[in-house]
Amino acid sequence: MDVDEIERVAVLGAGNMGHGITEVVAMAGYQVTMRDIKDEFVEDGYESIQWSLEKLAEKDRLDDAPEDVLARIDTTTDLEEAVADVDLVVEAAPEQMELKHDIFSDLSEYAPEDAILATNTSSLSISEIQSAADDPSRVVGMHFFNPPVKMDLVEVIYGEDTDDETAETTYAFVESIGKTPIYVRKDVNGFVVNSVLGPFMDEAAWMVSNDEATIREADAAMVHERGYPMGPFELGDLTGIDVGYHVRKEAGKEIPPIIQEKVDAEELGRKTGKGYYDYEDGPGVDYE
Ligand code: 3HC
Repeated sequence: MDVDEIERVAVLGAGNMGHGITEVVAMAGYQVTMRDIKDEFVEDGYESIQWSLEKLAEKDRLDDAPEDVLARIDTTTDLEEAVADVDLVVEAAPEQMELKHDIFSDLSEYAPEDAILATNTSSLSISEIQSAADDPSRVVGMHFFNPPVKMDLVEVIYGEDTDDETAETTYAFVESIGKTPIYVRKDVNGFVVNSVLGPFMDEAAWMVSNDEATIREADAAMVHERGYPMGPFELGDLTGIDVGYHVRKEAGKEIPPIIQEKVDAEELGRKTGKGYYDYEDGPGVDYE
């Protein structure tokens, strides 16, 4: 399929990544259906999109009026309905292989035969995910970063059976939504970005676990010395401490105690109001 033939997109999942991807794709002019398994998940995701569009409009960073972007977004909890008539599916469901297999097997049944089937997984093997599809050559990784509306890069990942046409059309699609794609030709755990980011996050977590630095010191060091927009702990709060936890588990890594403590306490970051920092009084971390 050529990128010009893509008109309708389905995003499976309305969580942080799912609703962010839906927003970005609708902002670029595509018709999008966002699907999750429960009404409340879909409603929360839709409200987050509304909030984000208003913010972008306030700052004059939106080409269309928020209501015009929203008019291109449909929501549903019905998978069959969501994908029946689409050219591209972006799966952004929780990071469990069994669940992904169920979804890609359902997609083989319900999505059009020539639709591209992309996964936003950050920690699972594309080759293993695509093995559940009737036609694995149409399955590709399309990995966005959090928050999708602000982050420019998207990794386009080949699984063992992904064909060039699928990867090239996905690459062109990413460009068409105003993002910068890179190919990841080897389906290595963590792809490129998380492979490099992982040790950075891990080292900081071990230093704090071993009482060698505080959370604020480690973050301040990276922000003020390296010029990063966020330190490793603030970033962990943004992406979700549980997400990083599962990524490490999936890679067979030892979990630093500070991460285990936060997961056990269900203090998972911004989404729960508390993580390494407290967000109950609003977002933002002062490193001074
Ligand atoms: N939509 C619209 N506005 C948003 C928003 C969103 N989704 N998220 C935040 N904002 C708003 C805030 O409310 C705030 O508004 P205000 O000024 O009115 O209070 C404003 O944007 C924040 O602006 P700032 O000037 O504070 O921040 P920047 O815009 O300069 O940067 C950032 C924000 C882009 C998140 C930046 O801090 C950053 O790049 N952080 C690092 C993020 C990162 O590395 N992400 C990748 C994580 S790894 C990953 O995702 C992999 C995955 O597999 C887990």
